Amino acid sequence: MHDSDSSQEKESGENRGSFTGKLGFVLAAAASAVGLGNLWRFPYLTSHYGGGAFLVVYVALAVTFGFTLLIAEVSLGRRTGKSCIDAFRDLSKKYSFIGWLLAIIPILIVPYYCVIGGWVLKYFVESATGNLETLATGGSGGDPYWWDYITGTATGSVLDPSIWFVIFAVMCIIIINLGVSRGIEKVSKILMPMLLVMLLIVTAFTFTLDGIGDGLAFYLVPKFEDLSYDTFLGAVSQIFYSMSLAMGIMITYGSYMKKDVNIEHSARNIGLIDTGVAFIAGLMIVPAAFCFGFQDSSGMGLMFNALPMVFHQMPMGEIVAPVFFLLVVFAALTSAMSLAETAVSIFKDRMHVSRPIAVGIVSAIILGLGLVCCLGFGPWMTNVPGDQGAGWLGIFDTLTNSILMPIAAILTCFFIGFVVKTALIEEEIEINGVFRSKKLFRVMIKYVCPLCLLAILISGMYGTFFA
Ligand code: PFF
Repeated sequence: MHDSDSSQEKESGENRGSFTGKLGFVLAAAASAVGLGNLWRFPYLTSHYGGGAFLVVYVALAVTFGFTLLIAEVSLGRRTGKSCIDAFRDLSKKYSFIGWLLAIIPILIVPYYCVIGGWVLKYFVESATGNLETLATGGSGGDPYWWDYITGTATGSVLDPSIWFVIFAVMCIIIINLGVSRGIEKVSKILMPMLLVMLLIVTAFTFTLDGIGDGLAFYLVPKFEDLSYDTFLGAVSQIFYSMSLAMGIMITYGSYMKKDVNIEHSARNIGLIDTGVAFIAGLMIVPAAFCFGFQDSSGMGLMFNALPMVFHQMPMGEIVAPVFFLLVVFAALTSAMSLAETAVSIFKDRMHVSRPIAVGIVSAIILGLGLVCCLGFGPWMTNVPGDQGAGWLGIFDTLTNSILMPIAAILTCFFIGFVVKTALIEEEIEINGVFRSKKLFRVMIKYVCPLCLLAILISGMYGTFFA
C-alpha cells in the first residue's frame, strides 16, 4: 500500500481508529446528522403537515423511536467493531444481507443530496454577488424564483442547476478523495456553533415581521384536527433522514467509539442536538413562510422561497443572506461527505478495489444519478409513479426514505429483537453503567418500531405505485 493510501486510511478512520472520547463521537455524529434534513426538509414537512401538530408528533417520535434506533445502531457498531456489512455478518452469516441493504441506501441518497447542495451553493453565490432581490422576487407567472430556476424557465435550460450540482459534487468528491475527513471534522466544530448562532439571529429577525404571531401560532400550537396518518408517516421518515439512521452510518460511527464512552448518554445528546437544530430551523422558516403565504403549497422549495424574502426585508440582509447560505452549504457538505464516505468504504471493502477506484465508482454514480435528478426538473420531467411533483429527485427520496429505509430498519429491529436478542445490545450499553431506558428499548425495538415501520412501508409502497 502506498503511503498516501495509508494516510488516507487513517484519515477516514478505516484503521479502526476511535473518536477521542464522548465529545469527539457526539460532535462527529452530530456533524453527519445536522444537514439539509434539518434546514431544508424538516421545515417544509412541518409546514406541509399542519405546523404544530407535526412538531409534537415529530418530537414524541424522536425521543422514543429515533432514540431506540440510534442506540441500537451505535451499540451494534461498537459491539462488533465493524461497519454495517461486516457487523451483521460477524453476528450471523445468514443475516449479512441486512448489512448489504443498509449499504445500498447512502449510494442512492448522495446523488440527489448533492443536487440540493448545488441549489444552496447557487443561492450563496447569487446572494453574495448582490442578486438577493432576484432570489426573493424574480419568479415569473406566479411561480417563485426557485421553481423557475430548477425547471430552467429562468435561464432557458437546466444547465445552470446542473453545473452547480456538479460543482457541489466535485467539492464533496475532492474532499473525500483527499481523505481530509478529520480536518473537516475539526472545521465543523467551529462552523456548527456558527450555524447555530446564525440561525438564532435570523430567527430573531423573523420575529419582527408583520403578522408573525399567526405564523408562530401555526408552528407552535398544535391543532389536533390536523393530525392524520400522513402526519405520522412524514414524521417517521423524517427521523430516519435527520438522524442518519437505517443506512449504516451510525453503525460505522459506533465501531469507532471507545469502550469507556456511555452509549445511552451520547445517543441522547446526538438526538438532542439534531432535534434542537431542526426545531430552530423550523422556527426560523415556518412562521416567516406563513407570513408570506407559503404554508402548505410550496413543498420542497420552502427554504429557497421564504428565506430570500426574509433576507430581502431584513436590515443588513445582503450580508446575512450569503453568510447564512454558506453555512448551509457547509452543513450539507459535511453530511454529504459522511454519506459518500460510507459508500466509498463499502466499495473498497467489498469489491476489494483501491480507494481511488472506489472514489471513482462513487463519483460516477453521484454524477450519473444526480444529472438524472437535474434533468428530471427539465426535459425529463415526467409523471412516473411516485413522482409527486418532485421529479426524479422525489422518486429517489421516496424510494430511499419510504421504502428501502423502513425495510432495512424493520430487518434491523427483527435481528436485534429476535435473532441476536436485546441482551446483546443491553450488555454493550451496561459496560458503562445502568441502562436507564432498558424497558422502553425492549418494547420499542421488538414491537413498536417494527409496527410503525411497517405502516410507513405499506403507505410508501401504496403512494409510490398506486396513488
Ligand atoms: N442526516 C443528514 C441530514 O439530515 O441532512 C444527512 C443525511 C443522512 C441525509 C441520510 C439523508 C439521509 F438519508
